[in-house]
Amino acid sequence: MQASHVSVQEVKAPVLIRIDHVGIACRDLDEKVAFYESLFDLTVTSREVNEEQGVREAMLHVADAPGGSSWIQLIEPLAAGTPVGRFLARRGEGIHHIGYGVTDITQALASIGASGVRLLDQRPRHGSMGASIAFVHPADLGGVLTELVETAVD
Ligand code: CO
Repeated sequence: MQASHVSVQEVKAPVLIRIDHVGIACRDLDEKVAFYESLFDLTVTSREVNEEQGVREAMLHVADAPGGSSWIQLIEPLAAGTPVGRFLARRGEGIHHIGYGVTDITQALASIGASGVRLLDQRPRHGSMGASIAFVHPADLGGVLTELVETAVD
């Protein structure tokens, strides 16, 4: 009888599993929400104030995907001196960051950090709708502020 052999292969799991959201900085959240709702027929699923990040935000649901949903995140700074407030003063309204879905944020941070790319968050913190999030330095990613998102398990 022949023994069955399971070949152990180094299967590299993808770090990013989908685009979770596009973060868009705006000066007037309510006005921008109304505009996005009417133009794209989208619905706000969640509104939050994140004191730690200094923003008021709304998540507009775009679509469902196998790994989770995708969103537009509209963000308004709570004050001019916050990171998003400074972003608006410097660059004006527009795309602020891209949020990518990951399966395991701790693993993703370790893997990206090991490559030498600078992490703005060494460990995950609280994001929208109970997600665990972490930011990666834009200067090491071609000017794109990049957020990793591990969706909350419901
Ligand atoms: Co975000």
